[in-house]
Amino acid sequence: MHNPNEAPAPGPGTVPAAQYPRFGPPEVLRVVEVPAPAPGPHDLVVEVAAVSVNRIDTGARAGRNKFQTGRRLPQPTGLDFSGKVADVGAQVRGFEPGQRVWGFLGTDRLGEQGTAAGRIAVDADLVAPAPASQELADLAALPLVGLTAWQAMKELGVEEGSRLLIAGGAGGVGSTAVQVARARGALVDTISSARHEELLKRLGAGSRFDPDAVDWPALAGRYRAVLDTTGKNLRSLRRAVAPGGRLITISPAGIPASLLTRILPGPTVSFMSVRPSREGLEALGDLVERGRLTPIIRKRFPLSQIARAHALVETGHGRGKVVVDID
Ligand SMILES: NC(=O)c1ccc[n+]([C@@H]2O[C@H](COP(=O)([O-])OP(=O)(O)OC[C@H]3O[C@@H](n4cnc5c(N)ncnc54)[C@H](OP(=O)(O)O)[C@@H]3O)[C@@H](O)[C@H]2O)c1
Repeated sequence: MHNPNEAPAPGPGTVPAAQYPRFGPPEVLRVVEVPAPAPGPHDLVVEVAAVSVNRIDTGARAGRNKFQTGRRLPQPTGLDFSGKVADVGAQVRGFEPGQRVWGFLGTDRLGEQGTAAGRIAVDADLVAPAPASQELADLAALPLVGLTAWQAMKELGVEEGSRLLIAGGAGGVGSTAVQVARARGALVDTISSARHEELLKRLGAGSRFDPDAVDWPALAGRYRAVLDTTGKNLRSLRRAVAPGGRLITISPAGIPASLLTRILPGPTVSFMSVRPSREGLEALGDLVERGRLTPIIRKRFPLSQIARAHALVETGHGRGKVVVDID
C-alpha cells in the first residue's frame, strides 16, 4: 500500500513540485508529482536548477498573505529560479533550448504559480539569460532579492559617492544591496549583528552599528539614502536621513510608518515592493559577470527538504539566502 508520507513515484510526463494542501507550519509542504507543463505561445518551459526561499513564500504558506494568495488550495510555492530552457513558446524570440536563464515571477503570482518544481512554464518577459560566471544553482539566490536591491538603489538615487545606511545589512536583501550599492560607488554603512561583521567587510561595507547599541544622535542627518529591511527603529532611522535624502523600507512591518509619515513633517518612509524586470535581471547579470555581485548562500536543501528551508528562513535571522536545489 502507498505510504502517504513518501513522495509519489514520478510518472511519464510528470515533474515533482512543492505544494501545501493547507495553510500552516513548514511541515504542511509536500512534494507531489504534477503534469509536466507545456509552453503557452509567450512562455518558456524552464527545467529548474534551484529556487530561493523568501519571507513572502513562508508568509504565504502560513496563511498570512491570503489577500494576495487567495484561499484556493493546494498552492504552489517559490517566486524565483535559475535553470535551463527546455521548450520555447511559438511567439517567443531570443531564447533557445539549453540556454541558462533566471527569473522572478512577481508577487502577484503568489499562491497561483510556483517555481519550486522540476519544470515550470513562465512568461518569457519574466526571464533573462543567466550570467555564465557562476554555478547555475547558486544564481537562484539572486533574482528576488537582487531585483529588490537594484530597484531600491534606483529609487534612493544611490550613485558614486552617495552615503547609504542599510538596516539589516547581512540578510538576503541586505547582503545583496550592499554589493549593488558598492558597485554604484556608494559608501555603505550597516546596522547588523557583530556575527555578520566579517561578511559585511568582505562585501565592502564600511561602519557596522550593532542593532542593540546604535548611537542614534551620532547618525543624525548623516545619510542621503537609508534602506530599511527590518521594519524596526523607523523613527530613529528617519533622523539619520540628510536634508533632501530618502528612506525606503521593504519590510511589511514598516507599512504603518510609511502611511503615518505622509502627514508628518520630516522625511517620508516609503514602502517599496519589488517588481519583475528583465532589465533589472540583465543589470544584475552584468554585475555578476563583472565580479561585483556574488550569491551569498546561507544553506541549501534538496527539494525533498523544502520544509526545513522554510523553517530556517522563517527565523528571520542569519546571512544571505536559503536555496532549494531541484535536481
Ligand atoms: N517589499 C519587498 O519587495 C520585499 C522584497 C524582499 C524582502 N522583503 C521583506 O524584507 C524583509 C527582509 O527580507 P530578507 O530576505 O532580507 O530577510 P532575511 O534574509 O531573513 O534577513 C533579515 C536580516 O535582518 C537582520 N535583523 C533583524 N532585526 C534587525 C535589527 N533590529 N537591526 C538590524 N538587523 C536586523 C537579521 O540579522 P540577524 O541574523 O542578526 O538577526 C537578518 O540578517 C522581510 O520582511 C521580507 O519579507 C520585502
